[in-house]
Amino acid sequence: MSQLTHQTRDIPGNSPRDILVTSALPYANGPIHIGHLVEYIQTDIWVRFQKMRGQNCWYVCADDAHGTPIMLRARQEGITPEALIARVAEEHKADFSAFRVGFDNYHSTHSDENRHFAELIYERNRDKGHISRRTITQAYDPVEQMFLPDRFIKGECPKCGTPDQYGDNCEACGASYSPNELKNPRSAVSGAVPEQRESDHYFFRLGDFEPMLRDWTRGGGLQPQVANKLDEWFDAGLQEWDISRDAPYFGFEIPDHPGKFFYVWLDAPIGYMASFRHLCDSPRGRAAGLDFDRFWDKDSPAELYHFIGKDIIYFHALFWPAMLHGADFRTPSAVFAHGFLTVDGQKMSKSRGTFIKARTYLDHLNPEYLRYYFAAKLGPGVDDIDLNLQDFTARVNSDLVGKVVNIASRSAGFIAKRFAGRLSPTLANPQLHAEFVQAGESIAVAYERRELSRAVREIMALADRANQYIDEQAPWVIAKAPDRDADLQAVCSMGINLFRVLIGYLRPILPGTAADSEAFLRIEPLTWAAIAEPLLDHEIAPFKPLMTRVESAQIEAMLEASKEDLSTTAPPSPPADQASLPVTRDPIAETIDIETFAKLDLRIARIRSAGLVEGADKLLRLELDLGGETRTVFAGIRSAYEPSDLEGRLTVMVANLAPRKMRFGVSEGMVLAAGPGGKDIFILSPDTGAQPGMRVK
Ligand code: MSP
Ligand code: ZN
Repeated sequence: MSQLTHQTRDIPGNSPRDILVTSALPYANGPIHIGHLVEYIQTDIWVRFQKMRGQNCWYVCADDAHGTPIMLRARQEGITPEALIARVAEEHKADFSAFRVGFDNYHSTHSDENRHFAELIYERNRDKGHISRRTITQAYDPVEQMFLPDRFIKGECPKCGTPDQYGDNCEACGASYSPNELKNPRSAVSGAVPEQRESDHYFFRLGDFEPMLRDWTRGGGLQPQVANKLDEWFDAGLQEWDISRDAPYFGFEIPDHPGKFFYVWLDAPIGYMASFRHLCDSPRGRAAGLDFDRFWDKDSPAELYHFIGKDIIYFHALFWPAMLHGADFRTPSAVFAHGFLTVDGQKMSKSRGTFIKARTYLDHLNPEYLRYYFAAKLGPGVDDIDLNLQDFTARVNSDLVGKVVNIASRSAGFIAKRFAGRLSPTLANPQLHAEFVQAGESIAVAYERRELSRAVREIMALADRANQYIDEQAPWVIAKAPDRDADLQAVCSMGINLFRVLIGYLRPILPGTAADSEAFLRIEPLTWAAIAEPLLDHEIAPFKPLMTRVESAQIEAMLEASKEDLSTTAPPSPPADQASLPVTRDPIAETIDIETFAKLDLRIARIRSAGLVEGADKLLRLELDLGGETRTVFAGIRSAYEPSDLEGRLTVMVANLAPRKMRFGVSEGMVLAAGPGGKDIFILSPDTGAQPGMRVK
């Protein structure tokens, strides 16, 4: 189905569209960060808009729970993969809900529904001859007894010789190569020299689907940039896709091939179906009469949209429609790709503190700000978007606080004080109100086409117009005149009504502020159709500030906290790509010689006092007694210890670390602790007998 045809289908009076929407499934081995949020916020805004328009729109997602990185991460934490993915699922759900990403269902690819559909799709494709078998040679770790994905092989770059590079590209010179070109290759899991071993693999014959994929590409469901990319791939020739992995692997075993597992990317998009199936079977889905087949049958009349990042287009625009087609399911109506997030013009960086986790953001700032800022920046294309922190502060303060909320606060005081909260029975300026309502058509088209920055621009132009109206009418002047009560009430009621229209238009972007505004206005949740009807002769609640300004101190504290995430004893996160590497037991992460080791001055220290650090909720300020000398050290162990637990205990410190200036003071060393982070950080507490100041050897 083409994008153009259904854009004309939201005229009132038409029956609602059935729409199923997904965002890509985040990997279950790491936290949600603000880069991810570009996608979930973009999708959520679009879905909220559709729901406001009265469409029968459903939004599902899930954790992407399978694969080698998740298996190894669990092993490294000493827990089962099931325990890891259960924990991460709770974290992900809490983050999404705090950002008001309103999934109708959030499931997991490690689920019965997903196993069912993965097997079904595989078997149907197999029975039609679209699966073939081949023996391949692959790197094998003889110590861990497992085959190694490219990202788990490290060595020296074949081009520039930089050591410690991953198996697919060099971070120093940017060269890409295959892992067997690396010099001195090592397994990143055990450190062993990889061997080459043979194994049977199963392949999806993507080439069988070329005619179908070419048709689908031309169907109008793809952005022009994406369609061009696909043409390049067609020209290069569609390769068979390796869909199997050898044990040990965390995933689904292939039904007719014991010891072989589906590659994570085979069952990941099937997770969209699984999550929807789970929704259909839930009490809510049943109450709504949701019919799985109506959305997935080959000739389904429903619309199916996948929002994704530009890095995973290949999977969604080639493999996925082909797999679906081969298994007699419908194909997606469209795939909507977006670009990547940069912060202050650069890739998110842990050392600059711009690798900001959703949770860290929430500790310091209101989620509505980020939703607004992303909306103001997002267009329908695949361009990267930049979070410029100064611009972020300026825009939120001037647009949301200075313009939108201001309209309500300028009008509400008089209504409360002088008219007991009652709005006038008629509109002071019906024509202006009608202009505001009229503007909704163009704003709706902008939302529908994912031109969110245009929607925001048009809404803000209306906000300027509303403020101009209030400036011209000057209710504070009218208020002083005797006998002009009716005018005062009419002008302020007009202001409230213009505010109401604006909040209606902003509702998909600012669901929290909209809910607070609905409570203030004492109205039902706004629908798009309800926006046109003014609020007359109606009592509103007393006004409470709907949003506060962003302060630059909050931004600084967030950046500092993001840096702290690094300086704690928690293991650093793997490269920002899909593969998470087992970093804490990475034996080839650069060795040091004995001389370098000898330079470390490790000492026993007694923790004399420990205290909280204002503005840094991950840190504790420790006063350490080194046997005569006292040092102040800021340690990222707040998540694991109450200050009082630590006082009097012994620990090991690096005594000759160069002092580091932090926002709260100078840190004069580092204490050593063990564990993966969070609650599991263990300060080493040597047996008595050790005395402060003693050297640790
Ligand atoms: N698990 C796969 C998707 C499977 S979908 C069947 C995956 N997961 S991810 O956690 O790495 O990314 C989830 C989504 O977030 C992807 O669409 C990805 O493009 C997007 N983003 C991850 N980092 C991003 C930025 N820095 N900026 C914008 N989007 C980013 O890929
Ligand atoms: Zn190189």
